[in-house]
Amino acid sequence: MNFSLSEEQLMIQQAARDFAQNELLPGVIERDDAQEFPTKQVEQMGELGFMGMMVDSKYGGSGLDTVSYALVMEELSKIDASSSVIVSVNNSLVCWGLETYGNEEQKQKYLTKLATGEIIGAFCLSEPEAGSDATSQKTTAIDKGDHYILNGTKNWITNGSSADVYLVIAQTDREKAHRGINALIVEKGMEGFEIGPKENKLGIRGSDTHSLLFNDVKVPKENRIGEDGFGFKFAMKTLAGGRIGIAAQALGIAAGAYELALKYSKERKAFGTEISNHQAIAFKLADMHTKIEAARFLVYKAAWDKDQGNNYDLSGAMAKLYASEVAMETTIEAVQIHGGNGFVKDYHVERLMRDAKITQIYEGTSEIQKIVISRSVIKA
Ligand code: CAA
Repeated sequence: MNFSLSEEQLMIQQAARDFAQNELLPGVIERDDAQEFPTKQVEQMGELGFMGMMVDSKYGGSGLDTVSYALVMEELSKIDASSSVIVSVNNSLVCWGLETYGNEEQKQKYLTKLATGEIIGAFCLSEPEAGSDATSQKTTAIDKGDHYILNGTKNWITNGSSADVYLVIAQTDREKAHRGINALIVEKGMEGFEIGPKENKLGIRGSDTHSLLFNDVKVPKENRIGEDGFGFKFAMKTLAGGRIGIAAQALGIAAGAYELALKYSKERKAFGTEISNHQAIAFKLADMHTKIEAARFLVYKAAWDKDQGNNYDLSGAMAKLYASEVAMETTIEAVQIHGGNGFVKDYHVERLMRDAKITQIYEGTSEIQKIVISRSVIKA
């Protein structure tokens, strides 16, 4: 067993750490406040190769492994989870899905631009009445020979207005239930495709989340990913990898809050000494550190499983479940350690606490992860 990172992985981790400190940290409070999309930073991350990290270099990607991707997600998320979710959706849900299941034409047309960050992508599965229960898709893609006619509404779509390319999951044949679902590539600007208002969110406020409306949108057949009826499996397989990215995001949020709390506790004095000398605080730090390390092992193991070609449904679900719980617990404790200062924006921990919450909800709630985990262990 080897717990060391390779030289290349350490270099990438350092590059992400430097980028987060130098480019994401300035203005992060203001962007969160104003719900401002980090346009300049996304461009920079494209230049650094962070938007298509695992994509083969022949399609413009960085050709890195999933462990490197998790390391980058962790570092970005320590500082700015709004920016990291943009990276996560583009990498795990859009680029990975297209590279793994798209045809050569689709890869040349879309992946080459998505992987460099020239354009960004969105993944559209959730609906007003189909969030966790993803097989109950109401959006329809009716087969009209050489094209589909797409109708319906998608909800809570990350990169909703900033994306150029949308992977949309829709029902073609209701009688076939989940085997009658397709995944279609929809371009911004297609007639009948409308972007709904921006959601006003608790956390990750710099990322843009919208509902999307499809009203008789004509989507050419060549924009279907995979065989007819492959859409649900496409979504499940794609989300299984996505969960590793979100687990790494949760880990980063937890680690970011812990680092701030540790530093603060060594500076802030109460009752004549630094508060880290009080056992009430020291034990909190011990718990936070232990849980973060445990979450880190789960996240890296899931990423490693994916790199080894092992099944990662179970390890990814466990990583996401645990890391997101640790993110929530740790950020709450980080606010507590900061006392009154934790409750004001300047100290960053209240934002991290708000950002942590979504990691227990998107790309499969904690309850969905428990379904995936329990089914897997019972079946085994
Ligand atoms: N890989 C491949 N196939 C899979 C799979 C996987 N990981 N999981 C399920 N499937 C297949 C099954 O094999 C089955 O196919 P067959 O019948 O052909 O064998 C089919 O999918 C249906 O499976 P189930 O019967 O298990 O379906 P279910 O209705 O019980 O639900 C579920 C399964 C795991 C709960 C699933 O509905 C699920 O994951 N729900 C959560 C959806 C989700 O994560 N939503 C997040 C939205 S995206 C988002 O948040 C993005 C963002 O912008 C940040």
